[in-house]
Amino acid sequence: MFIFSYRVLILGASGGVGTFAVQLVKAWGAHVTAVCSHDASTLMKKLGADDVIDYKSGNLEQQLKTLPLFDFILDSVGGSTERWALDLLKKWSGATYVTLVTPFLINMDKLGVADGMLQTGVTIGSKTVKHLLKGVHYRWAFFMPSGPSLDEIAQLVDSGKVQPVIQEVFPFSEVPKAFLKLEEGHARGKTVIDVINKK
Ligand SMILES: NC(=O)c1ccc[n+]([C@@H]2O[C@H](COP(=O)([O-])OP(=O)(O)OC[C@H]3O[C@@H](n4cnc5c(N)ncnc54)[C@H](OP(=O)(O)O)[C@@H]3O)[C@@H](O)[C@H]2O)c1
Repeated sequence: MFIFSYRVLILGASGGVGTFAVQLVKAWGAHVTAVCSHDASTLMKKLGADDVIDYKSGNLEQQLKTLPLFDFILDSVGGSTERWALDLLKKWSGATYVTLVTPFLINMDKLGVADGMLQTGVTIGSKTVKHLLKGVHYRWAFFMPSGPSLDEIAQLVDSGKVQPVIQEVFPFSEVPKAFLKLEEGHARGKTVIDVINKK
């Protein structure tokens, strides 16, 4: 549980992960700033975001710098965001930046398991220390199945506090089509494969 003054920034809020994250963080009681394209603004408001920032309407970093600092940042965009996003966190207060976009798998593919793990360890270690010295926490997140967490989410779904945002449902026979859809990008919620009603 957060309190309303706990400020959370979600980068990539309109996608499969972001649409859940906005709702979960709201259900936990925090103030949410969602970053997305302009056409997703209405959806973000509907999901409970307090502030919505269009990343295509000018310099995002500058827009965010006009807002109060954040306690937590969830980054599902990655890339260059990492260079400036940590400056938006409150210093020396336990504030944390978590990115879902990591070089872990790329390192394994490029360098093999042993060297890939070593490279990954060096990268995360050096970034963690660098940011810790500046008064903020830097983390990578990886999704893992968790029964207790799913139980909590099921309760939030049952109570209507979290609603799955489904962009499109494909029958099992159209899995390749679903992947093509995913590759197009610009997701608004999740693409679902229906494995029960087979066509
Ligand atoms: N570490 C893990 O275990 C884990 C787990 C799941 C996902 N991920 C990673 O997390 C990332 C997001 O996953 P997802 O399933 O949510 O992807 P997704 O469903 O494809 O959503 C990405 C969203 O980001 C928006 N977007 C693109 N560029 C943006 C920018 N610069 N600023 C703000 N929003 C932007 C896209 O819409 P527009 O382009 O229209 O703006 C889209 O709505 C992916 O890179 C995925 O690989 C990691």
